[in-house]
Amino acid sequence: MNNIQIFSSYTDNNKQRVKKMLGVCYYPEHWPESMWAQDAKEMRELGLRYVRIGEFAWSRIEFSDGVYSFEWLDRAIETLAAAGLEVIMCTPTATPPKWLIDKYPDILPVDINTGVTRAFGSRRHYDFSSKNFFREAMRISEVLAKRYGEHPAICGWQTDNEIACHDSTHSGSVAAKEAFREWCKSRYQTIEKLNTDWGTVFWSMEYENFEQIDLPILTLTEAQPAHQLAYRRFSSDQVLAFHNKMIEIIRQHAPNRFVTHNFIPMMDTQVDNYALAENLDFVSYDNYPLGRSDLFFANRPAEEFKPYMRTGHPDYASYDFDQSRGISKKNFWIMEQQPGPVNWAHHNPRPEKGMVRLWSWQAFAHGADCVCYFRWRQAPFAQEQMHAGVKRNDNSKGAAWAEIEQMRDELKTVAFSADAPVQAKVAIISGTTNQWVSEIERQADSYSHHETEFSYYSAIRQLGLVVDFISMDSDFSQYDLILAPCLPIVNDAFIEKCKNAKAHFVFGPRSGGKTDELSLAPNLPPGKLQALVPIQIISTETIRPDCSETLIYKGKTFESRCWREEIQINENVNISALYHDENPAIVRHGNTSYIATLTCDNFLIELFDDLANEMGITTIRLPKDMRMVHRGDMTYVFNYAGHAQTFPIENVGSFLLGQANMAPYDVAIIKLNS
Ligand code: GAL
Repeated sequence: MNNIQIFSSYTDNNKQRVKKMLGVCYYPEHWPESMWAQDAKEMRELGLRYVRIGEFAWSRIEFSDGVYSFEWLDRAIETLAAAGLEVIMCTPTATPPKWLIDKYPDILPVDINTGVTRAFGSRRHYDFSSKNFFREAMRISEVLAKRYGEHPAICGWQTDNEIACHDSTHSGSVAAKEAFREWCKSRYQTIEKLNTDWGTVFWSMEYENFEQIDLPILTLTEAQPAHQLAYRRFSSDQVLAFHNKMIEIIRQHAPNRFVTHNFIPMMDTQVDNYALAENLDFVSYDNYPLGRSDLFFANRPAEEFKPYMRTGHPDYASYDFDQSRGISKKNFWIMEQQPGPVNWAHHNPRPEKGMVRLWSWQAFAHGADCVCYFRWRQAPFAQEQMHAGVKRNDNSKGAAWAEIEQMRDELKTVAFSADAPVQAKVAIISGTTNQWVSEIERQADSYSHHETEFSYYSAIRQLGLVVDFISMDSDFSQYDLILAPCLPIVNDAFIEKCKNAKAHFVFGPRSGGKTDELSLAPNLPPGKLQALVPIQIISTETIRPDCSETLIYKGKTFESRCWREEIQINENVNISALYHDENPAIVRHGNTSYIATLTCDNFLIELFDDLANEMGITTIRLPKDMRMVHRGDMTYVFNYAGHAQTFPIENVGSFLLGQANMAPYDVAIIKLNS
């Protein structure tokens, strides 16, 4: 290891991280060793500094039980380090090898929709409740952490890989059932309390003891909602226990190295994301704007979808960036970013020329410190052979190469104020428990927690504002406008904080309507929120999304769609908007507004614009498909449109990159006048 240079750019003591770097995901085990040195040299030439390795290499590290092979990995790390690269090492637990599964078949999870055991042959085939897997996963993590924890070329660690991906949070196994019973005992203490909290008298579901409790899966019709919520809470806790133990082991053996995890979109983890992020140094996010947009917007009509087919929706990537920053209240990394078509969405278009650069800059603008591309070279074999790499499988340069070169050069010339925070005056309150409630009890096929949240987010972004995602427990003091698109369960501490905050609060429909055990609020929805806005929801109806009705605001007509609550107002409540039948649809009391319906983007933009201005926040109606972000003393502008557009604010500062007349898919960076 003599020729390894020490690059440790991160230490836990002074938190000195190099800002704005690029990196790549690399699989030395997929390529002949004779290629490694040239790969490493080219990575450096391309301006990459970080290389993530090892997350799927268990079978190469431990080919059979207790038979380890580290020499190849030692040499791979040395080769990368010799070229001046810093290595991010991963625990390989997302891919338990065949010998391990054969030894402990209970590792395989059970599909909750069929009751069938999921098979070996892909990845993430493990059950968070399997005690055998827990022990084995921690063992291999410790083996690696002991060997490489203080390796000078390794600057940080990634735990597992996309921990909840492929619907792997839940399992219907016997181990899960037994662990769930223990979890219930600890939460409810007595079976009487559980029966009361869940309302099991309904449909004769009462239990005599905890040993009778099964998982709420495979029931003939819908399972008891409180039972489902408990199971989701339990499953999330299982993941947290697994993840936290792994972090503890790494930290024990890898002092002064960062520990991160690569998240999938927060809406897909089925885990309490704030808790999952809590013990990490920072959050990483895997950015696949086209693949994810294809899934997220699958139901949108072609005329809405097609303009963004090769760019992603202008708010989609940043929606995930802002959540990544929000759950940890820190800057984040992009650990993977698509450099071309992926292989796993319904359809897999190529990015428009310029988008790999645009997404990279956009991540930096929203608080990323590093952007890593996935993967270095397209694999000629196995599941992802149709997934682009930075290089093609014949080792030629892929379509993104030139854009990454451009990033390398631009990062050198654009000066940054290191560590500049993203300073938002607007926040969105988001949380997994509330997501679960609206998934468990949809009440309308067309109700989507995420689409509702996304519509609020997108409206704010179209007003040129920066958004923080926060939890109900966060400090509200920096915000002037706080939006809660869907918050069915709230607690007393939250209500007190709202009362004392300076912000204007906007609650979306179904907010406050449920108790902590998913029953109706005893004083009618919006339950505890009545302390902020004295109204009662006396009935709720849902209607087909293609049967929208009118919503009247300031004499203008907008849409009320899908979800409609009937409001009974008490004294001192102002009516802000009306339904078609002149009943109140949006009401306001002091610094709280309540929106009792789902609505259209145009309405949300109009309402939020008015509220922002009232709260002293300056908004700007950006041209369609143009977005901007302030970070530190810079403003970043992105043109998602396939035509040139002009940034509408004049004399705001000097352009460090680009210009006011922006080409299609272009980026401009402006240093603000002081
Ligand atoms: C990510 C995953 C990678 C790779 C990639 C393909 O979700 O972490 O291992 O599968 O998707 O796009």
